[in-house]
Amino acid sequence: MPMAQRPRRNRRTESLRSLVRESRVHPNHFILPLFVTEGKNQKTPIRSMPGVNRLSRDLIIKEAKRAISLGIGSVALFPVIAESLKDTLASASTHADGLLQRTIADLKNAYPELTVITDVAMDPYSTDGHDGLVQDGKILNDETLPILAAMALAQARAGADIVAPSDMMDGRVGYLRRALDAQGFTQVGILAYTAKYASSFYGPFREALDSAPKHGDKKTYQMDPSNRREALTEAELDVSEGADMIMVKPALAYLDVISALRSHVHVPIAAYHVSGEYAMIKAAGQMGWLDADAAMLESLVSIRRAGADAILTYAAMEMAEKIHG
Ligand code: PBG
Repeated sequence: MPMAQRPRRNRRTESLRSLVRESRVHPNHFILPLFVTEGKNQKTPIRSMPGVNRLSRDLIIKEAKRAISLGIGSVALFPVIAESLKDTLASASTHADGLLQRTIADLKNAYPELTVITDVAMDPYSTDGHDGLVQDGKILNDETLPILAAMALAQARAGADIVAPSDMMDGRVGYLRRALDAQGFTQVGILAYTAKYASSFYGPFREALDSAPKHGDKKTYQMDPSNRREALTEAELDVSEGADMIMVKPALAYLDVISALRSHVHVPIAAYHVSGEYAMIKAAGQMGWLDADAAMLESLVSIRRAGADAILTYAAMEMAEKIHG
């Protein structure tokens, strides 16, 4: 049958398909999240995140080495803080010899080229399990900012390349930028969790860090999943306050938000393929209900297609291995 357009012609062979492929995932795009725990040679699996472990510092170094060899140049660190060190002010987050600070220093000593990204939020250190300071059940905004700044400075002093405020307090990007600059850390970047939604997909992560809120939820600071325009407002603010990169989180249920931000701002966009998104695919794979590797790669490429530059994913290592074949 004569037909001017036959889209299948470009799909005939793998070489043709790869010639016209519009989006690609490369290990260089990945940021590997790592859970750090005290001790030596400690590797404790996270029940709801198959294949992901809490690792002691010595093993983190080994994991980073493997990541680098696979072409992954960036890691995001999340410390597991002992309950006895938590308090209402997240004081442990500013200690020069704290777990996170020691890990940053170790990594930068071993691999100066590695990009080390650190989370700025109170929750892993807080007895309340909230990202900001709690008073009478309310999360205080402006009172939280100096705590976040002290935390970011401790991370910068330890050698962090990029600090990533994940707390969603208003004005925190500008506040952190000024605090970093005032102390001479003009080269430390800010990756703002710009559109971070109050999502149920963070469950496994909170299990990993034992950081679930002790009361209430995070809806007065994290965004309402129903909103898209509000993400543009957040992005305009973060960029004007000095964010070097912005983030959308979670990723898969928010591809439209990634796409909207891509067409509105010019800074690089990262997307966080979060713990629950990872867990769902892994669980279905374990049940034999789908091919987990293929589904994972398809999910990651969809995040790139939506417009993300970088992807934080717990599947970074295994997908990098698969991509390299
Ligand atoms: C902490 C933080 C969270 C995640 C990253 N940083 C949890 C939360 O906000 O409750 C979630 C990451 C994931 O689920 O993979 N502020």
